[in-house]
Amino acid sequence: MSHAPRSDASGRAPAMFDTTSRLVAIVIGIVAVVAGLVVGINNPILSRSTSIEGASIDQLFSLTLGIATVVFVIVQGFLLYAIVRFGRRPDDDTDGPPVRGDTRLEFLWTAIPAIVVFFVGFMSYQVLVDIEQPQDDALVVEVKGFQFAWEFYYPEQDLTATEMHVPVDRQVHLKMRSTDVIHSFWVPDMRIKKDVMPDRVTETYITGTETGAYPIVCTELCGAGHAVMRSQIIVQSDADFRAWVASQQTTSAQAAAAATDPALAGRQLFNNSGCNACHALADARAVGALGPALDGYAAVAPDRVAGQSAEAYTLESIVKPNAHIVEGYPANLMPQDYGLRLAEEDLTKLVTYLLEMK
Ligand code: CUA
Repeated sequence: MSHAPRSDASGRAPAMFDTTSRLVAIVIGIVAVVAGLVVGINNPILSRSTSIEGASIDQLFSLTLGIATVVFVIVQGFLLYAIVRFGRRPDDDTDGPPVRGDTRLEFLWTAIPAIVVFFVGFMSYQVLVDIEQPQDDALVVEVKGFQFAWEFYYPEQDLTATEMHVPVDRQVHLKMRSTDVIHSFWVPDMRIKKDVMPDRVTETYITGTETGAYPIVCTELCGAGHAVMRSQIIVQSDADFRAWVASQQTTSAQAAAAATDPALAGRQLFNNSGCNACHALADARAVGALGPALDGYAAVAPDRVAGQSAEAYTLESIVKPNAHIVEGYPANLMPQDYGLRLAEEDLTKLVTYLLEMK
């Protein structure tokens, strides 16, 4: 920009709506629209989504991002122009012109954002209604969130899993509930995120479009183990999904038959109750690091508290975790309701199992 004098020969400041300003407005407008189209169409921020719902959400996001880019370029463009053209010159100590506002301008910069916000709100509503449209053949999965793990129950197949398997291209209807505090179920690759609460069932829908494994993340701070409250959703072909269901049903049949096998029962309890999220244990392939590692536990348990048996010590440590805090680990980290969550016989099985860990 040339350093044109701020005032003309008669001493007046340049007019805000003269030819130069109109020309600049047209240029800024064109640049803004082109930038908005480029950013909106190419969306440089998101990776590709892997669900039908995610595709709709991404389209909405791209539209919003395009509109935001247009607004950004217009606002910043006029700001720069105003600084350069109407800014104070180094040798100019006179007062600025007494501007009283401009009704046309104020009407425009109120009406246009109102229309834009209404439009984006309407589009968002449309997308929400669209992606939450239940289909007849949807697969129902009941999601249970608790400190600090996820559990998935398939009512039609009557099986429980700690990873969610779903067939590709089929809508999955999630009914979610927490057994303690508020969690939030999030599958970033599929753009699905919804709170999981203790006092109500929240529902959402996912239709995977590509086979693969995608992380499930808890995205509501729910306690010290929040960061490890993860699982995954495995999208597979219909045949693979059926095979998985069959294998799980065999496993649960085996588990029923193997009620006599305490090691198997204990390992399942350990992994299904969320112990594995915080405690490392080779036998259960658990690698949690928030609580004490439990390999070789049987060797140390008997000497922890004088006069207390290893069984009593272990049970107390599960149902009243603050009673005996192992040095180097914080109190109040482990949930204190395992005495309510697990049946008495399951607690006994878990204690027996842990005391087998020589
Ligand atoms: Cu559950 Cu964070």
